Order: sequence, then structure tokens, then C-alpha cells
Amino acid sequence: MSEQKETFNPEFNPLGAEGSIDTNAMPWIPIKDVSGLYVKPIRVSPESGMFSIIFKLDEGCSFPSSIYLGGMDLLVLSGQLNYVQEDKESVLAPGTWGFISANSKVNSITATEEAEVLANFYSAVAFLKEDGSLKSILTGTDVMNLAKDKNISLVPNSSTECWERGPQTYDGPGEPLAIASSNAATLVDSDVGSVLSSEISHPHFVDTREVPWFTMPTMPDVGLKLLRVSEETGFVSMIVRHNGVALPHTHIGASDFLVLSGALGVRAGPPEGYGPGMWFYEPAGARHEETQRVTDEDLIYTANIYGPLVFDSGPGTPVEAVVSWIDYKTMAEEGGIKLVPNSNSNDKTLLAWAPLTAK
Ligand SMILES: [Fe+2]
Repeated sequence: MSEQKETFNPEFNPLGAEGSIDTNAMPWIPIKDVSGLYVKPIRVSPESGMFSIIFKLDEGCSFPSSIYLGGMDLLVLSGQLNYVQEDKESVLAPGTWGFISANSKVNSITATEEAEVLANFYSAVAFLKEDGSLKSILTGTDVMNLAKDKNISLVPNSSTECWERGPQTYDGPGEPLAIASSNAATLVDSDVGSVLSSEISHPHFVDTREVPWFTMPTMPDVGLKLLRVSEETGFVSMIVRHNGVALPHTHIGASDFLVLSGALGVRAGPPEGYGPGMWFYEPAGARHEETQRVTDEDLIYTANIYGPLVFDSGPGTPVEAVVSWIDYKTMAEEGGIKLVPNSNSNDKTLLAWAPLTAK
């Protein structure tokens, strides 16, 4: 390990942690032309056009009729949404996760209660007028410009950028997420209780509370809810309950995650760890030594993995396991966790399955 890495972030500045951003410290930025829609920009890849945001819709306001040019995945964090696509409606409650494949048209996503949603856009989204013609396009560049206007430093995209990163430059007031002041474990765990229920009639959405946990044999204290495995890209989406110690590992591909409950202790982070609303990006090639929770509460986070992980038992030790989408798929099958092909025949994605509740 280089001297530079050992001295990274010596002040434990939560806004300066490697590859992370405290979304609670950021403002909600209104989106021009869409009434009642606000975003917290998190990461934009100038290389691929992918961007990650948390968006908020005021009660009664809608994402317009849209075409998701590169696809999108989302997790409802708070509130309630009415989702309309192909003449069907779903009610999306906190904890509902979905994957919208590229070039899908969604008629509307309307907040029936003020709602906050974590969303990864794999490319731009085209907003349509009522007659179906193009109104505007929201791209990664637009999101980057929103951040620039507010002096917000987005998450670095590569390991090199992480080490070169300065402190967060936004010094205005933050507007914390709803999950920062609630028990967000209710999002994914039915045992913890829930206020709202989803009514899902679109097969590419799932109430994560209905997806069972399974464990990897080598890490019995780490539970996974597998939500999506792409046989085309190797991308894997899941919810992680991280109550033990994760073995040291290297991310061959990047990954991102949002803490939902508990507190995560990481190298160069503060002793109290990072809690709900902290969003992390592990760039391709990132390595960590052991990571663990630092409170007694369940540590639960979302995770998208964009390539395999290589586990060992410390610097210079032999590789103990390489875990890719193939292994997650196999583990799910062996654990009796059903994954089903996306109903869109163009999409080589396997999705979590839970009983659909037709509306
Ligand atoms: Fe990691």
C-alpha cells in the first residue's frame, strides 16, 4: 500500500471519503421543465453517459412520459408512486426495486405521496410531449451541469481520480433524505414492519421485502437479496445485509451502493462509520481490506456490481475466490431463490421473482 493511500483523508472528512458522497449534505435541485421534480446528482460517467441520482417528486407531480434510452434501475426510498406502462398500473411503495430495459417507454411515474427514489440511468432519458413527440432529453451532461451550478463535486469515476480528489466544494445547506431519520431496514425486511405495500403488475418490478435472503457459504453473516443478473453485461444488482466481516477483496469492475440502515466502517472513515444516505462508488480496480458494521443495527445497503470481485485474505495472499455473475446465478439457484428471464425478449437479464399482485 502506498504512503499516499495510508494518509488518505486523515481528517475523516465524511465529504472527502474515497469514492463516496453524503447525499444528506446535498440540496434538492429542481429540473427545468418538469414541475415538482428535483434531483441530487451523485455520479456521471462522461465516458459511458451513465449517471446516478436520487430524485424526489412532490405529491401529485410526475415524471413525464419518457423513453429510457439506455435503461434504468430504481429503488423507491420513501413515499408512494403510481407507475403506468403498457396500459397497466403498479403502486410502488418504499422498498420496491425495478429494472427498465433500454428503449422502454413508460407513460408516467406519479407521486401519490412525496417520494424519493434512487435511480441509475444507463444513458439519457427522453421526455415526451402529450402527443408523443420529443420534448427534451436529460443526459449525463445535464446532470453534471446541475452539479457544477451548485458547486457540487460528484463522485470520481476511477481510482486515479479518487486519489486526486479534493474536498467537497458545495458548502450550502443540505436537505437530508427521508431514510436518514427513519428505520430504513423496513424497506427491504418484512420482519421489521412496513407502513405501505406495493401492488405490482409489471413483471420487472419486485417488492424487495418478498425476496428471500441467502448467504454465501464463505460469509455466513452476509445476507444477499439478488435482484438482477445480466447475462449480457455481467452486471448484478442486490441488497446486502452485512453483519459480519467482508473478506478483503478487489473490484475488477466498479460497483456502487447506498447505505439504507446501520453504519459501515471503512478505511480512513470516521469511527462511527457511514449511515443511511451515504452513497459509495468503488471504481474498477478498487481494493479494500476487511469492512464491517460499526453498530449493533443491521447494516443494509443496495449494491450494483459491474464486474467480478476477487477475494483473498490480505495483501500479497493468494486468490481465494473470484465471484462473478455466473457465481451469483449459481448461488441463487442452489439456494432455491428463483430468478426469471426478463419479459422483454431483447433483454438478457434474469430478475428476482416474487408473487405478482395484479391491480
Ligand atoms: Fe467492496
